[in-house]
Amino acid sequence: MIEIKKLIKQADNKIILRGIDLSIKQGETVAILGPNGAGKSTLLKVLATLIKPTSGLVKINGLDLKKDQIEVKKIFGYLPHSSLLYDHYSPLENLIFFGKLYGVKNIEKRATELVKEVGLSFFINEPVKNFSRGMIQRIAIARAIVHDPKILLLDEPHTGLDQGAISILNNVILSMKEKGSTTLMVTHDFKQAAEICDRIIIIKNGKIADDFKINEKSLSVVSEKYQLQVEGVS
Ligand SMILES: Nc1ncnc2c1ncn2[C@@H]1O[C@H](COP(=O)(O)OP(=O)(O)OP(=O)(O)O)[C@@H](O)[C@H]1O
Ligand SMILES: [Mg+2]
Repeated sequence: MIEIKKLIKQADNKIILRGIDLSIKQGETVAILGPNGAGKSTLLKVLATLIKPTSGLVKINGLDLKKDQIEVKKIFGYLPHSSLLYDHYSPLENLIFFGKLYGVKNIEKRATELVKEVGLSFFINEPVKNFSRGMIQRIAIARAIVHDPKILLLDEPHTGLDQGAISILNNVILSMKEKGSTTLMVTHDFKQAAEICDRIIIIKNGKIADDFKINEKSLSVVSEKYQLQVEGVS
């Protein structure tokens, strides 16, 4: 589903991604871990077609990221650090706006359902500018999935969420997985990674340092491997 070969990203004479080779199958839920500045967000931005790779090949469902950008954009739902929402719009207006961009049918109904799903029905018509960080993140999650993407790219999605919102987000990811969607999630939260992901990738200095499957929500395995690769502790 996602095929990455010899991906290199250079910016300002700095090599950020140093040859990433990665293959991800449909339905996988993958956590990307790694220290600050490792290149994790950069990798997601390349996949979301926000920045161009310097060299290498990326194929999504057989489509070439470089040549078929418009088709590829529809496959992805991208949740970056910033919410991408319009401040003066309400949750409903934001979701309708983004849904229309993607050509979602019955968007009013879909948007109303999503606002309910993320637990903000009470604030459905309030401008987003008055919302707390966690409330904005909830709407940003709804925005990322408004067009039912086949692949979810989530950059530190749990940041700022309360326990209720963490459950909502995890349920969104798991229910999309049941429908066959694939998730790539950058996170510093090992607990959430172990809880919902079936594969862990550790990136360090722009390279993949480890790549392994996890079973039975094993947090200790994730922590041990991370310490070994990133902190040099065994
Ligand atoms: N447009 C750019 N121009 C120059 N350097 C950049 C650019 N974008 C990112 N970088 C650098 O690339 C490196 C990787 O950045 P990136 O945001 O991918 O890290 P990250 O792994 O997501 O880190 P964090 O965990 O802190 O979010 C950093 O050193 C950053 O300063
Ligand atoms: Mg980042």
